[in-house]
Amino acid sequence: MSEISQAHPEYNYKIVRQFAVMTVIWGIVGMAIGVFIAAQLYWPALNFDIPYLTFSRLRPLHTNAVIFAFGGCALFATSYYVVQRTSQVRLFSDKLASFTFWGWQAVIVAAAITLPLGLTSTKEYAELEWPIDILITLVWVAYAINFFGTIIVRKVSHIYVANWFFGGFIMTVAVLHIGNSMAVPVSFTKSYSLYGGAVDAMMQWWYGHNAVGFFLTAGFLGMMYYFVPKQAGRPVYSYRLSVIHFWALVSLYIWAGPHHLHYTALPDWTQSLGMVMSVILFVPSWGGMINGIMTLSGAWHKLRTDPILRFLIVSLSFYGMSTFEGPMMAIKTVNALSHYTDWTIGHVHSGALGWVAMVSIGSLYHLFPILFNKPSMYSTRLVNVHFWLATIGVVLYIVAMWMSGVLQGLMWRAVNADGTLTYSFVESLEASKPFYFMRMVGGVFVVAGMLVMAYNVYKTIRTPRESFAAEPQAQAA
Ligand code: HEM
Ligand code: HEM
Repeated sequence: MSEISQAHPEYNYKIVRQFAVMTVIWGIVGMAIGVFIAAQLYWPALNFDIPYLTFSRLRPLHTNAVIFAFGGCALFATSYYVVQRTSQVRLFSDKLASFTFWGWQAVIVAAAITLPLGLTSTKEYAELEWPIDILITLVWVAYAINFFGTIIVRKVSHIYVANWFFGGFIMTVAVLHIGNSMAVPVSFTKSYSLYGGAVDAMMQWWYGHNAVGFFLTAGFLGMMYYFVPKQAGRPVYSYRLSVIHFWALVSLYIWAGPHHLHYTALPDWTQSLGMVMSVILFVPSWGGMINGIMTLSGAWHKLRTDPILRFLIVSLSFYGMSTFEGPMMAIKTVNALSHYTDWTIGHVHSGALGWVAMVSIGSLYHLFPILFNKPSMYSTRLVNVHFWLATIGVVLYIVAMWMSGVLQGLMWRAVNADGTLTYSFVESLEASKPFYFMRMVGGVFVVAGMLVMAYNVYKTIRTPRESFAAEPQAQAA
């Protein structure tokens, strides 16, 4: 690793390497658990009557592992890298950086222990109990000081747009986490929310939706605004549009939470407000997507030879797809059909697997050779294999869930002439079964792709620099 510090002695690449490697490892773990729970929905006996392996306990383990372990490590790695490169200065504090790495890994391990034990606050995406919440807060404050500290000591006057997205993500997640986690502890492993009834639900989905908007979107847009132009070798299509994109996105997202609570005890006007804000959100989302894709103007031919660029551009297509679908699902009459069905799960994974995972993977493939001072990835061919495994896997997953979801929605609302239900719930479950199998197969493709990535990364790290070059490489390091 000493070669790295020689390459860029002024930057702290160690922390980027640590988070980048853990992204791959947690990606495999989190997605493998996803495949396992997908299999459980098809073969329920797979919980072996062991409480720690029940779907209800492993599902939050999956969501926490993919969002906070895989997605979180990818965000830490890329934001620490981008803020140093674009500020042309070393990270504000190496010690704080190291604390964020070990603290975040401790949070993940604590989640992996407590969730299968059934210790949970029951709030979706905020299941972890209060002692872990406090650790998250400490790590996040250290992260914020380090990120903004680096911006403050930067050597260039301009703050590149990717840093605005990363900064918005860091600040908002801090507010969301502290706001939604307010609870009264009754023991070391149990607490009750400070909020009650409809207010609790409102807080939860203000948090939940903005976890999507800021954790799963704004931070990854920061990634997109740095790595797409880098990999394409072109400047951002419209810098002005990227700034409008940022301000429009952050000012709209924060209002949209109530679309998760349509037809509930929430006041009607808040539901309508959430719906309208969600529909308007389509505009900046597509503005950003188009800005990313058009960055390839004049470089489209590179898609033919560069699978890393393909990852990045396909991720943007999924971003466009899920941000078209989301506003549509936020319309109350559409939500009446989609809510509680697998359609939501399809939407989630077109965003989470198609957008979040693919943009992270593309960015990491760009990063690994730089971090380990190699001319390129060990094998571009294997990056291409991964690209196809991931794309086919995601498409299988989301198409299965769309079909299953719409089918469920229609079956549940079908009534006979005398007003009785046409189908029982079990009949709708039986109708969904083939799609659960198809989703599981999609998941196996995705995990297989991640394993190929792990092998390629391992070989990139271990192979001496001189032994590269035999294979034609498309990537510009
Ligand atoms: C191999 C890949 C994956 C597979 C097979 C998979 C599978 C699953 C399954 C079976 C569920 C439960 C669905 C249900 O309750 O009906 C689920 C939920 C979820 N997954 Fe995944 N997943 C994968 C990757 C990911 C990734 C990469 C992310 C995020 C970055 C993600 C985020 C989520 C979320 C947020 C939910 C909860 C959705 C909701 O409550 O509406 N998944 N996943
Ligand atoms: C303009 C952008 C978007 C809008 C307006 C939107 C809207 C929606 C709506 C209406 C639902 C269904 C709520 C329900 O019936 O319970 C939903 C669920 C969800 N969306 Fe989106 N979406 C957007 C983009 C995204 C993206 C890009 C991602 C992922 C990266 C994502 C992740 C999720 C998740 C995880 C859920 C499930 C939450 C849960 O019930 O557990 N969304 N979204």
